Amino acid sequence: MIGVFDSGLGGLTILKAFLRALPDYGYLYLGDNARTPYGNKSQEVIHEYTRQAVEFLFARGAVLIILACNTASAKALRRIQQQWLPAHHPTERVLGVVIPLAEAAVEATRYGWVGIIGTRATIASGVYDQELNKLRTGLKIFGQACPLLVPLVEEGWVGKPETNRILKKYLRPLKNSKIDTLVLGCTHYPFLRKDIERIMGKNCRVLDPPGIVAEKLTDYLRRHPEIEARLAKDGRRRYLTTDDPERFRDLGEPFLGQRIREVERVVLG
Ligand code: DGL
Repeated sequence: MIGVFDSGLGGLTILKAFLRALPDYGYLYLGDNARTPYGNKSQEVIHEYTRQAVEFLFARGAVLIILACNTASAKALRRIQQQWLPAHHPTERVLGVVIPLAEAAVEATRYGWVGIIGTRATIASGVYDQELNKLRTGLKIFGQACPLLVPLVEEGWVGKPETNRILKKYLRPLKNSKIDTLVLGCTHYPFLRKDIERIMGKNCRVLDPPGIVAEKLTDYLRRHPEIEARLAKDGRRRYLTTDDPERFRDLGEPFLGQRIREVERVVLG
């Protein structure tokens, strides 16, 4: 099956796009709700928590794991891919969201001025700058950490005047920089996309992370038949959380946009 990992509920927006694009596969989602948010934590902690989650998903039968969480993709993925995976699961794969989004930004940009918004950890990692610069030279890259947005989305404050004021404040430097493309580098920001688009104006393209990541996964499976052949195609969806399953179901259904049935509480580490 395909494992999908996030620090909490936000990754369900990515899973939602997978279910639409690739509905026949079996999916196992793991949300580390007991330890969320990751966005303000140190590299060591984010790496350790993510490694534990990946290990757990492999133990439950995942063959391919997508880190839907930008913070985990930024701070933990490379070390997991280069050091841990070859030693422990050489025939399994872990992928993240940063490279797909960087590729989409390079394809979308008109004159090479790209903005990224994300958690503190994601922006401080500089990983988007590195990946974008690998793909194209001469880009102008502007990063902005937006630490208040995750709690506002989780509290259901999307569209409220207070949230829009905070959004405007975060986005002002990017708007003044006249970027032509904006990457929403956090699982929660697609919920704010309409307001972000309105604030940034029509000269800036705001990318759609779930759609992009689902498209890239489809392409990856086409290019890697040896992995694709090992994936269950039973259409089953199961959910694991490190916190209360009832709460996961209640808060997660709006993120997923459909009913969540099989949820189990698990302990990591
Ligand atoms: N899932 C995280 C991300 O995409 C946001 C929530 C958190 O800080 O854990 O960066």
